[in-house]
Amino acid sequence: IPVQIYETADEAVKAVAREIVDLVQTKAASSEKCVLGLATGVSPIKLYQELVRMHREEGVSFRNVVTFNLDEYLPMPKESEQSYHYFMHHHLFDHIDIDPKNIHIPDGTLEGDEIDKFCRDYEKAIDAAGGIDLQILGIGRTGHIGFNEPGSFITSQTRKVFLNDLTIKDAIKDFGSRNLVPTKAITMGVGTIMQARRVILMAWGEKKAPIIKATVEGRVSDSVPATFLQMHSNVQFIIDESAASELT
Ligand code: F6R
Repeated sequence: IPVQIYETADEAVKAVAREIVDLVQTKAASSEKCVLGLATGVSPIKLYQELVRMHREEGVSFRNVVTFNLDEYLPMPKESEQSYHYFMHHHLFDHIDIDPKNIHIPDGTLEGDEIDKFCRDYEKAIDAAGGIDLQILGIGRTGHIGFNEPGSFITSQTRKVFLNDLTIKDAIKDFGSRNLVPTKAITMGVGTIMQARRVILMAWGEKKAPIIKATVEGRVSDSVPATFLQMHSNVQFIIDESAASELT
């Protein structure tokens, strides 16, 4: 996996934002839509801040952008501050000129059979949009991408999943206590992610160093789903020096 190491996350996100904007503008020049796969969590916050800055200060437009978010907790009302729906609007969508009808985020309010139908329709919507041009990823300490926890298949599609114990533990900071963290989610599959034409994974800080080493240097295995990215032909890891500190 090609790994680009930056001294700081601030520097790194500038490069990622530049790549996104270049793609958006190249597509706009030929009147095409640009389909972005987006992540939530701490890792992309600075990236979204930079995109908002580029919109405000440089007049960058996102009118031709279509987005598909990776995941959402289940159950989760959209208006909850812990929802990924809220996160995306708060950090990005409310501050740029994206057309609201181009925004897609898994729906954490569904129950039972509605969930399976939603997941099938999500895959169809990605296909109908022409597939994902650029997928932004973070990585969990379990090696999850999206919420594809250990045991996820390389061919997995958008579906309901159960969160790993370590993932639940890492989410306590957002929910206050363990029993308030949802145990389920809807996530795009590894297969969905593998179909993106380009993938950029971002990781910052020393807590991510062991899983970055396992992902980049370990053998491909469903016990670390992010290792499947070794088989993607157009993937780039953009990490800071702390996240890179265990690489050989
Ligand atoms: C979020 C997602 C997750 C996170 C991962 C890292 O949409 O899909 O895979 O990217 O859990 O989270 P942070 O960035 O908070 O360390």
